[in-house]
Amino acid sequence: VTFDQVTSMSQLIQIVYCSRSTFPAVAQADGVEPEVGRILMQSRRNNPKSDLVGALYYGDGYFFQCLEGEEGAVETLYARLLDDPRHTDVRLMRRQTIAQRGFERWSMKYVPTASDVQALLARNGLRSFDPNRFSDRMIDDMVGLLQAGSEATQTARPSPTPVLAASPRSASGGLASAAFGLAALALVVAVVALVRTF
Ligand SMILES: Cc1cc2nc3c(=O)[nH]c(=O)nc-3n(C[C@H](O)[C@H](O)[C@H](O)COP(=O)(O)O)c2cc1C
Repeated sequence: VTFDQVTSMSQLIQIVYCSRSTFPAVAQADGVEPEVGRILMQSRRNNPKSDLVGALYYGDGYFFQCLEGEEGAVETLYARLLDDPRHTDVRLMRRQTIAQRGFERWSMKYVPTASDVQALLARNGLRSFDPNRFSDRMIDDMVGLLQAGSEATQTARPSPTPVLAASPRSASGGLASAAFGLAALALVVAVVALVRTF
């Protein structure tokens, strides 16, 4: 049995957990809490290294996060998360094996308070976003909303609360080509300047 065979045998899992933020909510013009912004930056820096993907929702002082990846990688991150002082009452709501990642393109997709979520709460008689009161069915629906709330929402209808799902996993490719374009432009400018001096 080779190393590759061992790693390909390890399971892909999905976990969903919720927690309560320990920091006070600060109203932000663009809707992203500074502390949440920092968490997203960390997640997007770290998760690609362990092939982890997922989505994070933050509402009414609660986090709801879905994480997907190799079992070991997910468990390592979850253990680290438990010690993070920025949240408390961390509760694992679901853990299941999956055939493939549902957030394939997102190192950590962020869906700000969306009208779809408000509708989900209203349908189930909840006045605020409290994942501890979610039924299994609501967990399914919430994960579905996080998966669906993608570029489609951004392009199809101009929403007052756009899905700020930046950082697709291919972002580095986009950056690289942008850098290449800039370099090419600089070269053209330099050549033109050189020609003009003669
Ligand atoms: C709600 C919440 C979600 C988080 N999600 C992730 C995540 O997806 N990936 C990650 O690496 N860190 C995440 N973190 C941060 C970790 O707890 C930890 O601070 C971080 O991984 C440390 O990374 P660093 O050593 O690179 O700073 C999250 C923290 C909170 C409070």
